[in-house]
Amino acid sequence: MIVIPGPASEELGRKVAELLEAKVAPVVFKRFPDGESYIRLNADFKGEDVAIIQTTSPPQDTHLMQMLLMVDTAKNLEARKVVAVVPYLAYARQDKRFLEGEAVSIETVIKLLEASGTDEFLTVNTHEENVLRKFSVPAKSLSAMPLLAEYFKKRGLTEAFSLAPDRGASELAKEAAEILGGGYGWLRKERDRLTGEISTEEKILDVKDKDAVVFDDIISTGGTVAAAVEILKRQGAEKVYAACAHPLLIGEAQKRIMQSGADGIVGTDCVPSPVSIVSVATLIADALAKRGF
Ligand code: R5P
Repeated sequence: MIVIPGPASEELGRKVAELLEAKVAPVVFKRFPDGESYIRLNADFKGEDVAIIQTTSPPQDTHLMQMLLMVDTAKNLEARKVVAVVPYLAYARQDKRFLEGEAVSIETVIKLLEASGTDEFLTVNTHEENVLRKFSVPAKSLSAMPLLAEYFKKRGLTEAFSLAPDRGASELAKEAAEILGGGYGWLRKERDRLTGEISTEEKILDVKDKDAVVFDDIISTGGTVAAAVEILKRQGAEKVYAACAHPLLIGEAQKRIMQSGADGIVGTDCVPSPVSIVSVATLIADALAKRGF
């Protein structure tokens, strides 16, 4: 059994390999002057089960292309089975045609992954679980919420309120609340499909003089989480943190969240970033071990 730590998830991939005591196949990669990706795999894959760990955070298209090249090459070099481990699955938010004529981007991504030879697929907190049904090969999404909640619990945030900044994230807050205690809730958020502007409706939450954590799958521009933090602070919450599986942190996201009154931002290494404090290595290693790795 071999683990390939892809260029976008090298550190995480190596941690997973170490936990599994698996052989690591290093990747030689570069970008040509015109932007094309080059990949070379260094191992004998014949008859082996291979797990390729590569996130598709920005630059998404390059990271996706590198993944496709790695999967196809491993299969071409006669790997028995290839598990594509994509901690952050890009394009998952475009999972339907919201406006007439739009590309259903995630379906195209799935077709590409399958066409290149993916035999099994593993991700973490994909935006909508329904996306997994679009795969023909076995596909699973793991949740990093218990790991994030444990992180806060270890730092003394017991009985903290878990808040989802929109209805879609309510399951995430619920999962976290099982560990933190302190209850959970969610807000109602609307996004303008054309401008991308969001508006969050304020509602009364049981947070006065309590610590609180906002849990979301993705922090992109930070607008969603910042709006939730402001509401919590306005309602008298004590310490307020923002937590997510995928800290994309585009542009001024970090500054925006801190300026909204947050006491900190905690993400996972599904996406390498300055706030990727919690590692999902054990989560991925356990899932791979369960399927016989
Ligand atoms: C969308 O519903 C997601 O779950 C996130 O809430 C969203 O992607 C966050 O985006 P932003 O940080 O730009 O508000």
